[in-house]
Amino acid sequence: MKIRKLQRDEMPPYDLLLLADPSRELVETYITEGECYVAEDNDDIIGVFVIVPLTKETVEIKNIAVSEDRQGQGIGKKLLQEAIGVSKSNGYDNIEIGTGNSSIGQLALYQKCGFRIAGVIKDFFIQHYDEIIMENGILCKDMIRLRLEIQ
Ligand code: ACO
Repeated sequence: MKIRKLQRDEMPPYDLLLLADPSRELVETYITEGECYVAEDNDDIIGVFVIVPLTKETVEIKNIAVSEDRQGQGIGKKLLQEAIGVSKSNGYDNIEIGTGNSSIGQLALYQKCGFRIAGVIKDFFIQHYDEIIMENGILCKDMIRLRLEIQ
């Protein structure tokens, strides 16, 4: 597997990006503000992440996803580690990431990679998404914000 930056003239892998974020509108906005990286295996794109600068010191991983048939094989963890490495070498001090209160596996992954819960944006998913999001039998309402200090 090879991880590389997507070039500006390449089509972003929307099928994967929409797995992590069902709002095409939001995805299209942040993909133009940040950098998109893809993981390739035999020329197939099997993973993606998007890093967007928030301030001079802080970036946010806005989107991270692995193809459904390749999930649970350690690829998400490798992508997150690469995102941390890229942000570190670009001189940032902190990385933030946000996910739903119902995203149990994602909350596990981020904390296993060192992120700590830094806050909660109540009702974020109710206010910003038209459709109801249910995961693990839980209604997704709030955004859990996590942060990792990297310098
Ligand atoms: N409880 C405990 N640990 C868990 C759980 C759980 N329910 N689910 C996953 N994990 C752990 C795994 O055990 C593993 O830890 P380990 O290495 O110590 O065993 C770790 O989380 C990650 O496992 P990976 O196999 O690397 O994860 P995967 O390749 O499936 O990628 C991802 C994770 C990106 C979340 C993937 O499942 C995916 O694409 N999901 C759909 C899209 C999505 O929800 N993206 C995130 C949205 S939020 C955002 O984008 C900012």
